[in-house]
Amino acid sequence: MSLSLEGAGLVHPNGHRALHRVSLALARGERAAVIGPSGAGKTTLIRILGTALRPTGGGVSVLGADPWQLAAGELRRLRSRIGVVHQSPPIPPRLRVVTAVLAGRLGSWPTWKALASLLLPSDAAGAREALARLDLGDRVFDRCDRLSGGQLQRVGIARVLYQRPDLVLADEPVSALDPTLADEAVGALVAASEANGATLVASLHAVDLALKWFPRLIGMKAGEVVFDRPTAAVTTAMLHELYATEGRALPIQGVETAASDRPANVLVLRRPGCQ
Ligand SMILES: Nc1ncnc2c1ncn2[C@@H]1O[C@H](COP(=O)(O)OP(=O)(O)OP(=O)(O)O)[C@@H](O)[C@H]1O
Ligand SMILES: [Mg+2]
Repeated sequence: MSLSLEGAGLVHPNGHRALHRVSLALARGERAAVIGPSGAGKTTLIRILGTALRPTGGGVSVLGADPWQLAAGELRRLRSRIGVVHQSPPIPPRLRVVTAVLAGRLGSWPTWKALASLLLPSDAAGAREALARLDLGDRVFDRCDRLSGGQLQRVGIARVLYQRPDLVLADEPVSALDPTLADEAVGALVAASEANGATLVASLHAVDLALKWFPRLIGMKAGEVVFDRPTAAVTTAMLHELYATEGRALPIQGVETAASDRPANVLVLRRPGCQ
C-alpha cells in the first residue's frame, strides 16, 4: 500500500474535531479525489497524508512507513518523495519562476547542488519543460510577484511535475484557474502521476473535474468519510446528499435536482463558463 489511514483522527487544541476515525488505503499508482463541503476536513486529511500534521488518534502509513516513527533524516527523505500542491503556493514573492520550479527537487539534491541552484538555475530547460505543460513556458525568468494568482498556482503545479515524487498530494490545486486551464492543469497532474507511477490524491471543489479525471471518489463531511467508491458507482443522489446540508446547489450544472441513482459520471456536466 502506498498510503493508509487506520481510524485516524485529529482533534485541535481548542477541542474541535476536524477528522474522525478515517480509514482508507490507496495502492501505489492509485488516483483518488477528495470532495465535500467547506470545513469537511479535506485539507486536514491531505496534511496528515503529507506528514504536515500528526493525527491525534489512529495510525498513518505513507509510502510504506509510519512517518511519526522515523528518525529526522528518514522523515526528511520520506518528505522528499512527496509532492504537495497547495491552494496558494508558499512561494517567496521575489523568487524567479525558474527557481521556484527547481525547488521541487531541492529535497533530493545534495546540499551543494541545492544552494548552487538558488544562485544559478542548474536546469532551466527542465523547469521550462514542466512550465510549458501548464502554458507558462514563456515565463521562466519572470519574478513570481509579477504573476497572477492562477499563474502562481500553475507554477506550484509545475514544481511538482518537475519534482517527480512517488506521491502527489494536491489541495484545491486549481481553485484560481478558469475552467479550461483548470481542466488542463488537473490533466497535467494526472498524466505526470501516471507516467511516474505515482499515487495521486487531490481535493477538489470542482466536482466535474473529480468525476472526469479520478477513478475513485472519497466524499467527506464533518470530518468523516461518507463514501469511498469507484467514480462509476457514485450517484448524483450521493453527490446531492454530500452537499445538501450546506443549503446550496451542487457546484455543477446539468445535474438533475431530483434524487437520482444514476451514476454521476454518465451525465453531461457543465460548470458556469464552461462550454
Ligand atoms: N488550527 C485549527 N484549530 C481549530 N480548528 C481548525 C483548525 N484548522 C482547521 N480547523 C477546523 O477543522 C475543520 C476542517 O478544516 P479543513 O481545512 O480540513 O476543511 P476543508 O474541507 O479543507 O475546507 P475547505 O473546503 O473550506 O478548504 C474546519 O471546521 C476548520 O474550521
Ligand atoms: Mg481545504
